[in-house]
Formats: sequence, C-alpha cells, structure tokens
Amino acid sequence: MRVVRTVAEVRAALEPFRAAFSVGLVPTMGAFHDGHRSLFAAAREECDAVVASLFVNPAQFAGESDLARYPRDEPRDIGRARNAGIDLLFVPAADELYPNGFGTWVDVSELGRVLEGASRPGHFRGVATVCLKLFNIVRPQRAYFGQKDAQQAAVVKQMVRDLDLELGIRVLPTVRSADGLALSSRNTWLSEPERARALVLPRALEAGRVAFRRGSDPLEAARVLLNGLPTDYLELARFDGQLVLAAAVRVGETRLIDNVVLQTEGGNT
Ligand code: PAF
Repeated sequence: MRVVRTVAEVRAALEPFRAAFSVGLVPTMGAFHDGHRSLFAAAREECDAVVASLFVNPAQFAGESDLARYPRDEPRDIGRARNAGIDLLFVPAADELYPNGFGTWVDVSELGRVLEGASRPGHFRGVATVCLKLFNIVRPQRAYFGQKDAQQAAVVKQMVRDLDLELGIRVLPTVRSADGLALSSRNTWLSEPERARALVLPRALEAGRVAFRRGSDPLEAARVLLNGLPTDYLELARFDGQLVLAAAVRVGETRLIDNVVLQTEGGNT
C-alpha cells in the first residue's frame, strides 16, 4: 500500500490502471472500525485497484469544536488500511483540497436540507463537494458508502445522477456491535453508562420496524422507547426508493444517528 498526500500523486499512481483495471474508492474520515472494513472488503472484492481517502472534511462540520474533537489516529488507520488490502491511501492536508481562494460548492437542494441537513445546516454541501472532488481526483468506477448514513448515500446518488457522473454508488449494510449499536467513529466518546443509554436508539428503531411490519405506526412505537433521550429528529423518509425510519439523538455530548429500512421498492424488508 502506498500513502500519498497530493492530488498529483494520486493521479500519477492511478494512471497505469486506467485502461485495463477497475478502480474503487472508499471515502472516509478515518478512525477506522468494522463498518469501514466491510466497505474496504467489498471494494477489494469488486475492483482491481482500491483507493481509500482519509480526510476529516472541515466543510461538513458546523463548528470548530466538533471538527477539532473528531477522532484521529493516522498511524493506526494506515496499518488498518494496509491490512484491509487498500492499494492507495489518500491522506490530503486541508489546503490540498481547499486551497486559498476555493469557492465552488455543490448543493443537493431538497434532499440535502431535511433531517441531517436541517439539524446540521451546510453539512451535505460539505459532503457533496468533497465527494465530487474525490470522484474527480480518483475517477473510480465505484464508490462505497454505508447504509448507516442513508441520507448521505442518497445525497451522493442524487449528485451522481444530476451531474451525470460516470460511477456507481454501492451502499453496504450498517455494521452493528453485538449489542445492536451501529458502529460509528463517534462511539468512542461514549462512557460506559452513556453507551448503555445509547442502546435505546437501535432498540427504538427496531421496535418501529416491527410495528411497521404489523401494520401499526412505526413512529409511535419508536417514540415510546426514545422517550427521555434528547432527539434531534425521528422521522420517516424516502431515500433513493427506500422507506427509512431515521433518528438522531444526543447521548451526553455525543450525537448519534441510525436508521432502519422499512420498505424497499420491491416490498417490506
Ligand atoms: O461518511 C463520511 O465519513 C464522510 O461524510 C465522507 C463521505 C467521507 C465525506 O467526507
């Protein structure tokens, strides 16, 4: 595995692959866990060359404090990426992607303004912009995202459609720990009692899923369990043909998001 830090190095490293090989990209903000590992494994399986990016994107954070607090451990991530069979790890500095004078932003309008977009104004503008830049730098045939960030995946898919980008977006199932909590880099901030409280989130969503299958109100079923946990939103949403029950809650200082799919275009899940 090579670690590169400039756009020019990425382009030069991938040039020999372009003609004959497929390139897969896994965009990440690091602090790798098994959720990332599943994306790396799918990309490794499906593509000839696998690039991962490790970049804590300032443009998708509202405040300096959340950005500064985001977990970072580059040496450990480099080791984990190498073990996962990544060919090229792109670790740019912020001014490599946002040089002085940078002034072009991608705004996925409606979809980018609800749920996460409403709770974190500007968040999806930052996500869409950095993803488009990464797609242009790496020029992958496929890029890999997790279902845990279902709205993010839908925003990226809409951008790909709207801007006629030539790549496929693969969305892999949410990876959960044995107790049901969706894996997230932010889980590391949870104290033991907070982690116990956080389990209410997947349980509430699961209760919503069961209620939906029985023909009753998924929101009501989930709301009863979430009671007491500060909730940014608990909503039904349609993302890319899927009916999803999604929520964002706060456990102490940590904001967690999760979702379950209630229905795909073909029927209930
Ligand atoms: O999901 C993430 O880690 C980030 O939002 C992404 C897609 C890498 C863009 O910065």
